Amino acid sequence: MPNEQPSTAELYARHVVPTYGRFPLCLARGKGARVWDEDGREYLDFTSGIAVNAIGHAHPALQKAIAEQAGELVHTSNLFLTRPQALLAARLEKMAGARGKVFFCNSGAEANEGLYKLARKHGGGRHGIITLDGSFHGRTLGGIAATGQSKVKLGFGPPVDGFVNVPPRIECVANAVNGSTAAILVEPIQGEGGVRPLTAGFLRALRKLCDAHGLLLFFDEVQCGLGRTGDWCGWHASGADDVVPDAVSWAKGIGGGFPLGAFWVREPYADLLGPGTHGTTYGGSPLACAAANAVFDTIEADNLLANARERGEQLREGAKTLPLVREARGAGLLIGLEIGDFAPGQEETGTAALRLTLRLIKAGLLVVPAGEQVIRLLPPLNVAAAECDEALRILREVLAAAKPLP
Ligand SMILES: Cc1ncc(COP(=O)(O)O)c(C=O)c1O
Repeated sequence: MPNEQPSTAELYARHVVPTYGRFPLCLARGKGARVWDEDGREYLDFTSGIAVNAIGHAHPALQKAIAEQAGELVHTSNLFLTRPQALLAARLEKMAGARGKVFFCNSGAEANEGLYKLARKHGGGRHGIITLDGSFHGRTLGGIAATGQSKVKLGFGPPVDGFVNVPPRIECVANAVNGSTAAILVEPIQGEGGVRPLTAGFLRALRKLCDAHGLLLFFDEVQCGLGRTGDWCGWHASGADDVVPDAVSWAKGIGGGFPLGAFWVREPYADLLGPGTHGTTYGGSPLACAAANAVFDTIEADNLLANARERGEQLREGAKTLPLVREARGAGLLIGLEIGDFAPGQEETGTAALRLTLRLIKAGLLVVPAGEQVIRLLPPLNVAAAECDEALRILREVLAAAKPLP
């Protein structure tokens, strides 16, 4: 009797909680902006693990930093000081652009949880947080209450008290402010919501509103921060360089794939979360921070912000000439292509974005759907011009074969 090993997909079906609608593709290795599946087939990876692998797969600088730090200290807990964490905190403060301090955690949802606690601590009895329709802030109970998309809340009972989601218009935000409001939280460019940038004028108006009512202004830069837009700060890419938020959350790109999250909080609020008020065992481990420092070093040394801006321009300009593409938006390498609907082929189901993503996978290009009609292009910040041309060629071929629906 042959003793057949179960396939990876069979093992998943049997043993892994099915929370994700996963693509039928098992990735085995990567290099730069390319990945290979279990059978050795090559793909152009324009997902970067959903805006995470900032310097691509298997980058030598990241490998070296992780290997060297693993040989020194992997983890210490936050009972002690470590040099990589201290250096990274100083770096993040500089990036945020104003005096303040940094707290380290492990993910975007967890970074935002810190902001919710900060709002309550500052609020002194006020606990309301206003967020925007279409936003995404993570999958914790706080995160789904903050997220302005009903699909993430369904089935999880009463939301955490105090969150209100409003349309992204200043009068709607202003109308939602009341005596219990403590903070406003927005993504300067909504990522999961379909790559929707907020305007500089709107961000400035939010700052004014917060100043007028003594509210904290929080930016969730988990997806749009850390160089993804071709600028260290996503809100600068929207033209709002003059706006100073009170706190910013980060994750995704910060560790180049090594799990790490953080938030920065500006003076005079930087000491509000004092000893014993907040914490996490793993946050800011020397290993994670060494990885993040290597990512920052590489972005700086290789001038990758400029590359992100140039390649972003190349992709958006190229995408505007593609069949079925209605709009190409975003900044740098956070790109959303809004597509028209097209006729499903035999056995194809799901939204236009999902069906297109599956066709693109077959053609050798990995992208990320966002909502029903948007696909995101999120290549690493060091993607080459020739790789962007190749992605545009695959997109053109696949889109040209799609039959538009009226
Ligand atoms: C803007 C934003 N905030 C928060 C999160 C949650 O981050 P994580 O999945 O690391 O918890 C995400 C994830 O997609 C995000 O895009």
